[in-house]
Amino acid sequence: MHYTRVIGCGGYLPERVMLNKELEDLVETSDEWIRTRTGIRQRHIAREDETTSEMACNASQQAIDMSGIEPDTIDLIIVATSTPDLIYPSTACLLQKKLGLRNGAAAFDVQAVCSGFIYALSIADQYIRSGAMRRALVIGTDMNSRILDWSDRTTCVLFGDGAGAVILDRSDTPGVYKTLLHADGSYSDYLQVPSGVSCQTAEPFIRMRGNEVFKFAVKAMDEIVDETLAHTGFTKNDIDWLVPHQANLRIITATVKKLGMSMDDVILTVAEHGNTSAASIPLALDVGVRDGRIRQGDIILMEAVGGGFTWGSALLRY
Ligand code: UT7
Repeated sequence: MHYTRVIGCGGYLPERVMLNKELEDLVETSDEWIRTRTGIRQRHIAREDETTSEMACNASQQAIDMSGIEPDTIDLIIVATSTPDLIYPSTACLLQKKLGLRNGAAAFDVQAVCSGFIYALSIADQYIRSGAMRRALVIGTDMNSRILDWSDRTTCVLFGDGAGAVILDRSDTPGVYKTLLHADGSYSDYLQVPSGVSCQTAEPFIRMRGNEVFKFAVKAMDEIVDETLAHTGFTKNDIDWLVPHQANLRIITATVKKLGMSMDDVILTVAEHGNTSAASIPLALDVGVRDGRIRQGDIILMEAVGGGFTWGSALLRY
């Protein structure tokens, strides 16, 4: 029986920090509104010459260093992103090139917006569990600043840029107990970037029916907590850490209440990072591990909801 275990993590945030106050000069908003409605105080914004694969590369290097593995033992590279460098090659292939990996590892992107990291983790887990692959590099990386309409106050205050990465390895003991993935495409126009390749009828910026997304997110996260616990036989009390997608502090608070947890049991990055889409969960994991809160053996619940709608969860022992 094989299991999947996280043996290293890493994170990267662009150097430039944009405070809420700066947004007051761009749109009719206030630091107070942003903080109270979302919990966000600042976000990181990439340089003009920076790319999504570069951010992924920085986070990956850290994860590789922490795990102590030889990079050419990686069998599988999955990049979760909605903001790829190019239409193709995939960001995963561009990352593979940047890492100098020429061992023939499979590399591809996954697009499930803010749930992307959970989707990528779940895919890698299936390969490792089945015995088909041994070691995977899984990344969430997004450069949201490139798809923001900086004149739309309902979206531009919410997002940031960044990347987070994990190294997953085959193990005899868990590891990942369960991942759950869901989607409902009938909600596709609630949160979208309504322009792409075959369809270029609108500007390529994030458009969101915020309040409806909010309500859906609270309900979906509420339900997936029960579903995850039912599948694994774990109880709420068994969970040491909630590592949630960081879109809005109020959504996270609702999940924490549902779990009967304390906010001290949550790795919170939303205030400093804003919503970094696919990067937010691995970035939060990295923060929790590096500051010593998350220790080996701890039980972690991850959960996310994003455009699509997509949503999912992962329950694992670190
Ligand atoms: O990561 C993927 C998932 N994404 C999310 O989970 C985001 C989910 N949605 C949210 O986080 C929240 O819905 C928002 C933070 C986006 C908005 O909070 P809300 O409490 O749902 O506010 P609202 O959309 O109902 O808007 C309330 C008011 C509106 O004004 P009126 O119509 O009541 O006069 C908005 O126009 O707040 C106004 N507003 C703002 N005011 C100042 C919207 N954005 C801003 C802003 N600054 N940036």
